Amino acid sequence: MLSTTRLSNSARAAVRTRRHVGTIAAVNHSRTKAMGDISSVFPSLNGAKAQPLPPRFAELKRSLVAGRENAIQDSWRRLLPVLDREIDEIRAKGPSIIPSIDFSALSSPLPAATLAEIKARGSVIIRNVLPPSLALFLKSSSQEYIRSNASSVRAFPAASPAVYELYWSPAQVAARSHPNILRTQSFLQSLWHSSPSTPISTQHPLTYADRLRIRLPGDSGFALGPHVDGGSLERWEDPVYRANYSRILSGQWESHDAYDATHRVRANMDMYNGAGAASMFRMWQGWLSLSNTAPGEGTLRLFPALKEATAYWMLRPFIGEDGRVDPARTGFEGAAMGACQELSSDNHPGLRLQEGMVSIPEVAPGDFVAWHCDAIHAVDKTHAGRADSSVFYIPATPLTPGNVEALRRQKDAALAGEVPPDFPGAGNPAVGEGKFVGKVDWETAGTREMGMGGEGWEVQEDMTEGAREAVWRGNEIMGW
Ligand SMILES: [Fe+2]
Repeated sequence: MLSTTRLSNSARAAVRTRRHVGTIAAVNHSRTKAMGDISSVFPSLNGAKAQPLPPRFAELKRSLVAGRENAIQDSWRRLLPVLDREIDEIRAKGPSIIPSIDFSALSSPLPAATLAEIKARGSVIIRNVLPPSLALFLKSSSQEYIRSNASSVRAFPAASPAVYELYWSPAQVAARSHPNILRTQSFLQSLWHSSPSTPISTQHPLTYADRLRIRLPGDSGFALGPHVDGGSLERWEDPVYRANYSRILSGQWESHDAYDATHRVRANMDMYNGAGAASMFRMWQGWLSLSNTAPGEGTLRLFPALKEATAYWMLRPFIGEDGRVDPARTGFEGAAMGACQELSSDNHPGLRLQEGMVSIPEVAPGDFVAWHCDAIHAVDKTHAGRADSSVFYIPATPLTPGNVEALRRQKDAALAGEVPPDFPGAGNPAVGEGKFVGKVDWETAGTREMGMGGEGWEVQEDMTEGAREAVWRGNEIMGW
């Protein structure tokens, strides 16, 4: 049995003396975000030309390879045939390769084989997280909110909106705080582990406020190509972020562990104030489905071979045209300052993206889709279905000191009716939902996961030293 104890005053005092033990990634907290929309995030959506990288990146590449040329070369040779086999399997199985489980299965431990499959594919569909009727109600409520505030709502593409710059509609807030969503997030976070001293509690999901999508049939404007979020060059340049990939970069990709959060909690995933960067560490990205949507109907596409794909695109910048390690090459394919990691057939031929990217299976209202923070994902180029393809974006963000810092800033934006700190228009009081008709009432809607309510997180007896520290520091940051 677990017993819970509230943080005592002496414990608070103890943690105050420990607060400098770790360092939270250096982030410019006072920044603002220029106006824009989701196309700001993707060089491929907004037509921006990639700029040449500063000279330090050539030196970085040389230093990462120095003395490891043979190990990296050998590991690349081992990787290619394994990757090929994975892609053959993806092609053979199609959408069914993405694991699906029912929400009710989370009430007891899942078979080890199921967990292993979810981890290997870096993705999962959890069915029936919300009743379909509730999910449809949340969608119609959002549509009513959009209609009521039509002159103020921003969206992309402007001519045929698909992704709305809306973050605080009552429906989104209700979905994020639904117990089944929180249970789903806890489950997803439980697939990760870290060293006992890492300040993280996966049992406590935090709310990350993101957009919503209502994509209509025929749309071809919101066509995101294959990419990975969480920055791009940062994975090589930031030493803490890079430590997460140390096995890959030392020529041992087979032992890379994509579910070890030890370094991620302090990694700097946004060194260049990227337009689409998330201030929170998202273990999983995800969305709640609000529609019946089949492959090809404007939905998500994934590359469901997580470790192999990650090893490929992390090593790719070091490999020359002849398939050999070439320390003198410049550039990091698909990576640019302030942008996410983009993947393309030209830059990443070994991924065989035409075959390795697969649509997720058909989803129904109330299903939840999650993909790992390093997973390559994309959106159908065109929406060939007959009905809307609609989602609320809801990631799984654990309790860490850095995430609570971001949560506090997000809460301040929420209460002020402003755009959340990571999104276009943040810090600009002239935009936001503060004056919207039907806006959320924080007196009744705010929860602890959103940084509201003042209840504080609890230490539990089975927590690691690091999880306790995360709770203590989180409560301290929130003033609880
Ligand atoms: Fe993305």
